[in-house]
Amino acid sequence: MKNSFPKYLINWYFQQKIDLPWRLEQKNLYKTWISEIMLQQSQVKTVIPFFINWMKKFPTIESVSTSSIDKILKAWEGLGYYRRAHFIKHASQIICDKHNGQIPKTYNSLIQLPGVGDYTASAILSIGYNLPFFAIDGNFIRVFSRFFEINNSNQKTVETIKKKLKKYKISNYENFNQAVMDLGRTICK
Ligand code: ADE
Repeated sequence: MKNSFPKYLINWYFQQKIDLPWRLEQKNLYKTWISEIMLQQSQVKTVIPFFINWMKKFPTIESVSTSSIDKILKAWEGLGYYRRAHFIKHASQIICDKHNGQIPKTYNSLIQLPGVGDYTASAILSIGYNLPFFAIDGNFIRVFSRFFEINNSNQKTVETIKKKLKKYKISNYENFNQAVMDLGRTICK
């Protein structure tokens, strides 16, 4: 079981997976980006109506980049941590000016966007592009420090977890990361 745990985890994910408005059959990197910014400090159930409303008001990156900040802040009202809305506005302009309106596909470009740190860059690359990145936050660390039975109170924990995970074959990073997110949110609390 332990050797093939990623396979079991991904199977579990497909069995229990709930429909979320940013979990789409048809990839949309813009939606992945906005959802990950909203989910940085807000819970899934809080984010859902904001995300749906946002996409009605701003269906494309370009529509964000040309919108007034007031209209953007209005759509964010009630979600909190308003810096995120300013970051999105600023990042959308960079994406339109420097990246041809496309969400960058490299870690180095993503991390330079306002509001995007290691976790969000990794989430976008894995969920959006199925690239081999781990979106490591508190949930991820809790799940794997328990699974590998390691102490999660020191700075080396993340490196230790990454090193251990390298030994496993992970068939799909998009599903693997989302499986860990769901496990951390619903079971391994
Ligand atoms: N938390 C952060 N990103 C998430 C995602 N894409 N799905 C579910 N929970 C999340």
